[in-house]
Amino acid sequence: MRNVKDDFPILKNRDIVYLDNAATTQKPKSVIEAIKEFYEYHNANIHRGIYPLAREATEMYEGAHERVAKFIGGKMEETVFVRNASEGLNLAAWILKDRIGKGDKIITTMSEHHSNFLPWFKIARMRGARVDVIPTKEDGSIDEEKIIEAIDSRTKIVAVQHASNVTGYITDVKEIARAAHDNGAVIVVDGAQSVPHIPIDVKKLGIDALAFSAHKMLGPTGIGALWMKADLLEEGEPFLEGGDMIKEVHYNSELQVIYNDLPWKYEAGTPNIAGGVGFAAAVDYLERYGMENILPHEQKLAKRIMNGLEEMGVPFVGPRDIKRRGGVVAFSVPGKNPYTVALYLGTKNVCVRAGYHCAQPLHESLGIKGTVRASLYIYNDEEDVEKFLEALEGMP
Ligand SMILES: Cc1ncc(COP(=O)(O)O)c(C=O)c1O
Repeated sequence: MRNVKDDFPILKNRDIVYLDNAATTQKPKSVIEAIKEFYEYHNANIHRGIYPLAREATEMYEGAHERVAKFIGGKMEETVFVRNASEGLNLAAWILKDRIGKGDKIITTMSEHHSNFLPWFKIARMRGARVDVIPTKEDGSIDEEKIIEAIDSRTKIVAVQHASNVTGYITDVKEIARAAHDNGAVIVVDGAQSVPHIPIDVKKLGIDALAFSAHKMLGPTGIGALWMKADLLEEGEPFLEGGDMIKEVHYNSELQVIYNDLPWKYEAGTPNIAGGVGFAAAVDYLERYGMENILPHEQKLAKRIMNGLEEMGVPFVGPRDIKRRGGVVAFSVPGKNPYTVALYLGTKNVCVRAGYHCAQPLHESLGIKGTVRASLYIYNDEEDVEKFLEALEGMP
């Protein structure tokens, strides 16, 4: 079998066991080359120049929207490029804010990344609404039943993660989407940890919005996407105003603005053009690899990590049933500060993250002061897992 690691220069250039994929993933040669080639052969601003080079750059950037939209079963006009999942979720909150009135409810969960937590509180504050934070199960898994029970006619938005960056739990968003729609609410899904690992079809999931980052799926940093249903994008107001997001601006003692077509209405100013091209190259790589192959590969390795931790008497959060989780395992070594553990593993060239992983309410609700997190991706193999477990076991 071909070694996936061969496609990733950094994994040859550095002697590392890279297990910090939930933070960001490494980049294959094809993505690095696509960005390099863009700057060497195609660089110009988009939607402005009419000379061939500018048209080429525009086609490549628009084509990247097509590729990314198709990857998640969406349409190009519904796919707005943003900087990252955080910006996508903030933009979703901004677009939806006028649907919320005084006394209305936004529902989210205790397991959310801060990026899918703070924007909803901000919008609720602005509109005199409240946020209901649904507690997790004891192991930190999302409790779908409790979310569904909490949705009522005052609920305007349900904001939930598709996969956790701490527990690895994969949420049954389809059921939640159905309950939200039955009550006239919209559902916004944080796909930062699902889109890179699970085949996604927004229509089959029945959701209204999905945010994700390119850098967590082999693409460059500084680019991501917010997919949102066209009617919601049409009714919303842009967060940023300026160049390229308008068709016409008139001023005759009063301002008159006609916004651009979707998705450009939400992409003010010169965007991250090369980043978009790199994003599309990442999607191409993942499709060649086969999206359906990723989760089973990660689950096999995660199972080995969970067994190894159990043998060492190291507890981890999240469900024990491997079918309910992805390749993220967060654990606490008894009597050891998570940073001490991560620092030690770093001396053994094992890259893991320590702390709250931007999900402090979750950790606090579970009564733990941070965890060490090993997170997997397509290039990790059994050897990586054994090296990690050996290093952990050898810790003084
Ligand atoms: C579940 C989840 N949501 C949102 C984010 C935010 O992603 P970004 O930092 O790319 O904006 C992350 C990043 O770790 C995440 O794990």
